Amino acid sequence: MTRFESGTPADVLVIGGGVIGLAVAWRTAQRGLRVVVVDPAHGGGAVQVAAGMLAPVTELQYGEEALLRLGMASNERYAAFAAELEEASGLSTGYRACGTLAVALDADDREELRELHAFHRRLGLDSHWLTGRECRRLEPMLAPGVRGGLHVTDDHQVDGRRLARALVVACERAGVVLERAEVTELVVADGRAAGVRLSTGEALGADRVVLAAGSRSHLLPGLPEGVLPAIRPVKGQILRLRVPEAYRPFLSRNVRAVVRGQHLYLVPREDGELVIGATSEEQGYDTTVTAGGVYELLRDAHDLVPGITELPLVETSAGLRPGSPDNAPLLGPTALPGLVAATGHYRNGVLLTPVTADLLAEYLATGATPELATDFSPTRFTAKALV
Ligand code: GLY
Repeated sequence: MTRFESGTPADVLVIGGGVIGLAVAWRTAQRGLRVVVVDPAHGGGAVQVAAGMLAPVTELQYGEEALLRLGMASNERYAAFAAELEEASGLSTGYRACGTLAVALDADDREELRELHAFHRRLGLDSHWLTGRECRRLEPMLAPGVRGGLHVTDDHQVDGRRLARALVVACERAGVVLERAEVTELVVADGRAAGVRLSTGEALGADRVVLAAGSRSHLLPGLPEGVLPAIRPVKGQILRLRVPEAYRPFLSRNVRAVVRGQHLYLVPREDGELVIGATSEEQGYDTTVTAGGVYELLRDAHDLVPGITELPLVETSAGLRPGSPDNAPLLGPTALPGLVAATGHYRNGVLLTPVTADLLAEYLATGATPELATDFSPTRFTAKALV
């Protein structure tokens, strides 16, 4: 194995420089470990398409109470995480504590939201039912047909692209080595992960390897069979509009809706960007933006907020959410000694960035798995396969 700067292997090598990999690297370097992150384009990946909603309560699904705990823990640390990152990088993250309004357009949608509200109440979550009129008082641009909704004051937002840029700079300033290259192979020696081989032909050694390669994590050549389950790519198409100064505030908080059974969200940023998302399509690694995807988003968003048709449409894009078999992330040591996972965050990568970084850094620095990570052990899928 070859170098880590001075010729010695890194303590930790992270495969994947998306927000998860970078945040893990940043926090781990803060613990005094020597860290290298390998990626052809640091700060890229699914975050470049994400709306950046921090919505553990309004995105809650039945049976996902453990994920809710993790999401709430991450949401609670977000303000401090963003402030520390902004201080460390000198860049804004676009974090905005604005709350979320989830509304219904027809009787079926209202029934679905009512059930979600009842579930919130059983779990003791801060979630308030509003009439249609009360929803429109909060957000006057909503369509007159809005039948009611939920106001969740603690579901906020961050700008994923700004977050990624800030993490790149914070990593550099913390002494993390950002290696611009493709990983071509995981190197396993004496039954443990020992480093990687790069597209340049070079090999990098490390005491521990963190796999944070999103929906491609399980495809890493050299990864022994059964260590990771297949991570499925779930395509999301998204639109970016611009709200001219004269129209602001167009919306004051995140607005979500169930429109004819389809989930839609509008995320208004301080700088005037309005993100509308997202489709959810399971079609492999295709990231084509389709006319149908754009049409459905615009049609549903127009039903919800008719005034959007006045706004300039500045970008359409598509990305891949990394979905694990149970839609929850894989956090911590895998069945292969030396290999640690930080992947499978599915719809929650941006939300779970701070808590993932803290949990992984704690494990990498101490060797002990924090209690909050135990429900998300990668071996929940693979233990049987390897015995
Ligand atoms: N968390 C929003 C999405 O995945 O579309």
